[in-house]
Amino acid sequence: MSTHEGASLTPFLNRILWGDCREVLPRLPDACVDLIVTSPPYADQRKQVYGGVHPDHYVEWFLPIAAELKRILKPTGSFILNIKERVVNGERHPYVLHLILAMREQGWLWTEEYIWHKKNCYPGKWPNRFRDAWERLLHFTKQKQFKMFQEAVMVPMGEWRHERLKKLNPNDLYRFNSQAGSGFGKRVANWIGREYAYPTNVLHMATECYNRYHAATFPVDLPAWFIKLFTEPGDLVLDPFMGSGTTAVACVRLDRRYIGIEVKEEYVRLAEERITKENALPNLYTFAEDGVSYGPK
Ligand SMILES: C[S@@+](CC[C@H](N)C(=O)[O-])C[C@H]1O[C@@H](n2cnc3c(N)ncnc32)[C@H](O)[C@@H]1O
Repeated sequence: MSTHEGASLTPFLNRILWGDCREVLPRLPDACVDLIVTSPPYADQRKQVYGGVHPDHYVEWFLPIAAELKRILKPTGSFILNIKERVVNGERHPYVLHLILAMREQGWLWTEEYIWHKKNCYPGKWPNRFRDAWERLLHFTKQKQFKMFQEAVMVPMGEWRHERLKKLNPNDLYRFNSQAGSGFGKRVANWIGREYAYPTNVLHMATECYNRYHAATFPVDLPAWFIKLFTEPGDLVLDPFMGSGTTAVACVRLDRRYIGIEVKEEYVRLAEERITKENALPNLYTFAEDGVSYGPK
């Protein structure tokens, strides 16, 4: 009998599990999680701080983890993987590209790729490139039909509409299909009188350093955006590389359940501290992106 057969979910719910996710994941039951959102250690980065894997071995290291995640994810669930290829010997190492191909071989659908544009990235000068201001958020699913709540992340239409929608040309009044044959079509007149539009797949969010004890935190708004997009209140979110607990904090704010896994004890404590503080706050969350408030959940 494999470790997970007959496993119960209850002991894991709303907890940060201290351990190596390669050992903990096999203990979770099949098809129990609605969303996985995580930022694993990037290849060889911050090796001294919390481990790291050589870029040449990244795929072989990550694939068994991806297989477990696939088993644990519900058929209608989504997996968001925050990752970025690093520079090795003066060029971008292709391990992320190899990983995408290997995960497709494993049976995942590479459904979408979101970009996190880091609005406040450090200035710097390199001889052969500019400062790195974006990271990938790869969206994998198990099937073409998955849960998605697009209305939950709508954004204000913006000022462009006043000029653009005032002067409609004939093509704007009916569905105008792209002449490049891409299958993309639009009817601009549909947007008259609307306050909100669907967002793009580029997320403009500043990096955050929650505190000096963890160097690679992402902003709470980042997991929160995907949690709103792919889950409903009460759903279960997993972060197998939980770090300082950012995904769990977003879950508490949005009334979702979570399971976190983190190998370093000090980060488990840090995450628990953050969650305790979060639980003490009134359970009302306003999601803000670019200074726009979307009201209580
Ligand atoms: C990039 S950080 C995640 C940061 C997190 N998103 C946050 O906002 O704090 C990756 C984390 O994975 C942890 N980690 C590395 N290998 C692990 C493993 N095999 N199992 C569980 N956690 C691991 C590291 O200790 C580190 O805290």
